[in-house]
Amino acid sequence: MEGIIRIAIAADHGGFDMKNELIKTLNRMRFDVKDFGTKENESVDYPDYAHPVATAVKNGEFDYGILVCGTGNGMAITANKHEGIRAGLAWNEDVGKLIKEHNNANIICLPGRFVTVEMARNIIKKFFKTGFAGDRHERRINKINC
Ligand code: RB5
Repeated sequence: MEGIIRIAIAADHGGFDMKNELIKTLNRMRFDVKDFGTKENESVDYPDYAHPVATAVKNGEFDYGILVCGTGNGMAITANKHEGIRAGLAWNEDVGKLIKEHNNANIICLPGRFVTVEMARNIIKKFFKTGFAGDRHERRINKINC
């Protein structure tokens, strides 16, 4: 991918602190990051944050999305309702690598309550430095839509 990579990031209250820490990491990695909220640590509904990020990635305004909630699952389930979005839940570095290599995920979802910030940093680093393997994985991706 050429040029500065544009990333849309959001979290609910289950991922609020992690999201803020990851923004610092992403800035240090020289990504172009936009924070889609939540901006305060109060209870909110994860679809209100997953939909805008998924829409922005689907429209091509951003290259990738990062979504954090308590388990990562609410965000992933919501984002995957959008055609063209492949949101993968990653809970360790190997899975972070494989959701790009095999699934060409364009959104990475993280479980804010089940991994440390340090682990999350390592997971996203692995995700961004891995490429899509194509070939048989491309064939499989082309069979996802129903
Ligand atoms: C919020 O309590 C929690 O349900 C949410 O962060 C997430 O885990 C949903 O999938």
